Amino acid sequence: MSLTALPRIELHHHLEGAAPPALIRDMARARHVDISGIFGPDGGYFCRDFPQFLDIYEAATSVLQGPGDYARLTAAVLEQAAAQGVVYLETFLSPDFCGGRDLTAWREYLHAIEEAAAAAEAAHGITLRGIVTCIRHFGPDKARQTALCAAETAGPFIVGFGIAGNETAGHPRDFAWAFDMAREAGLGLTAHAGEWGGPQSVRDALSDLRVDRIGHGVRAIEDPALVEHLVETGIVLEICPGSNIALGLYPDWRSHPIERLRKAGVKLTVSTDDPPFFRTSMTREYDRLADAFGWDEDVFAQINRVALDAAFCDADTRAAIAKKLEPADV
Ligand code: ADE
Ligand code: ZN
Repeated sequence: MSLTALPRIELHHHLEGAAPPALIRDMARARHVDISGIFGPDGGYFCRDFPQFLDIYEAATSVLQGPGDYARLTAAVLEQAAAQGVVYLETFLSPDFCGGRDLTAWREYLHAIEEAAAAAEAAHGITLRGIVTCIRHFGPDKARQTALCAAETAGPFIVGFGIAGNETAGHPRDFAWAFDMAREAGLGLTAHAGEWGGPQSVRDALSDLRVDRIGHGVRAIEDPALVEHLVETGIVLEICPGSNIALGLYPDWRSHPIERLRKAGVKLTVSTDDPPFFRTSMTREYDRLADAFGWDEDVFAQINRVALDAAFCDADTRAAIAKKLEPADV
């Protein structure tokens, strides 16, 4: 089987962050919103660094103005992900952007997203699950409201709770209440850490938020004792190498620590994060990793098995996805 034919699991992905630029441009035009400054000369999103990325992300998201827009977004994103061989996708969804953390509004957005996901599953064979995500730089009070939305809608579709946004704002302990509430609702937990914060930010997310997975976590490589701890505890890193390189965390693919983490025995997965913002796709991620580190089908198959085990979905979904990962009979 060639790398392109491999079925893929993606666990770290932001729904708005996957919005095709043409869709956002269309919606902006229809709503008479001028966000032309977020696009570069080639029509794609244009960002130089992480603070600018967060601004552009929020500007693009501002044109998504109701459940119908999120249904359109979900359909477009899932069609593209399925074309990249993704069979199971967990995406971050933010009640901050979907109804301003009002529970009734959030339910309406969620209903629209779930309907679009069911249609995409029937048409393209891709399964979507949602991770409700608070935004760190919006502060702990809003995170609490977000966690309530998550707890109220936890179930077969909403399977996790997480935190994204500016990793240098506040401290993980400020968000412990939100994570406790989500844990009590039975949700899987993940936190962005060890991207812009150093290894200590990973330690803090593990001790203060008691997460099962870390979004990025790559800066753990700077602390050998932490790497050992990750190996011992089986904490899974959701690594997005193309995102890290696009945002200047590492100068090139060979410098990225993913291979050193893998060789050390850390459980890790590969995702795109915000694919059009970082000019990437799952195919590009796999191809660059194969070029940089000589990864072959066996390595990618192993990574997808780790992702399957770490997915927050229920047992029936996991069993159905496992079948899709099995090599086809020849
Ligand atoms: N929101 C969307 N993508 C993000 C990322 N890579 N880090 C933090 N917050 C985000
Ligand atoms: Zn992310």
